[in-house]
Amino acid sequence: MSKQIILTGDRPTGKLHLGHYIGSLRNRVLLQNEDKYQMFIFLADQQALTDHAKESEIIKESIGNVALDYLSVGLDPSKSTIFIQSQIPELAELTMYYLNLVSVARLERNPTVKTEIAQKGFGESIPSGFLVYPVSQAADITAFKANLVPVGNDQKPMIEQTREIVRSFNHTYKTDVLVEPEGLYPENETAGRLPGIDGNAKMSKSLGNGIYLSDDMDMVKKRVMSMYTDPKHIRVEDPGQIEGNMVFTYLDVFGRDEDANTIAEMKEHYQRGGLGDVKTKRYLLEILERELAPIRERRLEYAKDMGEVFRMLEKGSQAARQVAGQTLSEVKSAMGINYF
Ligand code: TRP
Repeated sequence: MSKQIILTGDRPTGKLHLGHYIGSLRNRVLLQNEDKYQMFIFLADQQALTDHAKESEIIKESIGNVALDYLSVGLDPSKSTIFIQSQIPELAELTMYYLNLVSVARLERNPTVKTEIAQKGFGESIPSGFLVYPVSQAADITAFKANLVPVGNDQKPMIEQTREIVRSFNHTYKTDVLVEPEGLYPENETAGRLPGIDGNAKMSKSLGNGIYLSDDMDMVKKRVMSMYTDPKHIRVEDPGQIEGNMVFTYLDVFGRDEDANTIAEMKEHYQRGGLGDVKTKRYLLEILERELAPIRERRLEYAKDMGEVFRMLEKGSQAARQVAGQTLSEVKSAMGINYF
C-alpha cells in the first residue's frame, strides 16, 4: 500500500517555543516514525515575507534557528523531507494558476486572515501577497499531493480553502491530478495549546511569555521562577489555587505517568496550604529539564556546523523540487498549457 503523505510547516519568524513543541513538533516526531506516513516539513519563508517584506533579515536568521529546533527535537532528514518554501519556484507557479480560481471576496472572507489583518494593523495598506497567502498555502499542500495536514485549529480555514481550490481545479480542467487534503487537528480546544508563563491563554513570541527550545538552563529557570501562580497565595501556609496556576498547568502537560502520584499529592498539599511556590517551581523545572536537556544538547551539537545544517536543507529542497515539479507538469497538462 502506498504511504499517506503528510505536509506541514512553520513560518520562520523567530525561534520555536514550548507551545510549538506541545502543539506540533512532538506530534510530528511521532508521525515521522510511523511507517505508513511519508512526511514533508518546510519553512514557509515566502509566507513569512507576506507580512515581513521589509524585515527579511529576521527570516534569514530564523531559518537557521528553526532548522536547529527541528533537528534537536528529533525530526530526521533521513526520514522526512525538510525544505525551504522559497527554494521551490514551482510553488509560486502553482499559486499563479490557483489565483484565477479564487475570488477576491472569498479571500476577504477567510476568518484567520481577517483576524490577522485586524491584529497586524495594516489599515488601508494590506499587502496583496498577504491577502492571497491561503492560495499559496494551497499550492504548498497540493504540490506534494498531501493527504494529511497536521495543523492548529486556526489553520482550518486554510485547509477548507485548499479543498475548494482542489475541487474547483479538478472540475474546471476535468482531471483528478490534485488531491483533497484532510486537516489533522488537536483533539480539543485546549489540547495542543500551551498557555504562556504569564497565564495568557497563548504562548507567543509577541507577548514575551514563552520558554524557548533554545533557552539555556539558567534562562528556563528564570522563566519558571517568574511564572504566574495564584496571586492570593501569599504566605506558604495559605491555601492555594490550582486552576489558572501555570505551574500546575505545565505539570499536567509535561508530567509523565510515573509523576502522576507526586503531582496529585502536590496539588492536594498546595490547596490545603503549606506548600510554597518556590518548591512547586523547582519541581516543575526538574520535569521540564528532563525534556529540554537532551533537546538542548542535540541543538548545541548541530549548531557547531551550520554549513551542514544548510546543506541538509538544500538536499531536502532539491528532493522537494522533484516532487513539486512533477505535480506542476501534470497541472499544466490538465490545463492544456503544455505547448511543446
Ligand atoms: N500557515 C501556517 C502557519 O502560520 C504555515 C504554513 C504555510 C503551512 N504553508 C503550510 C502549514 C502548509 C501547513 C501546510 O503556521
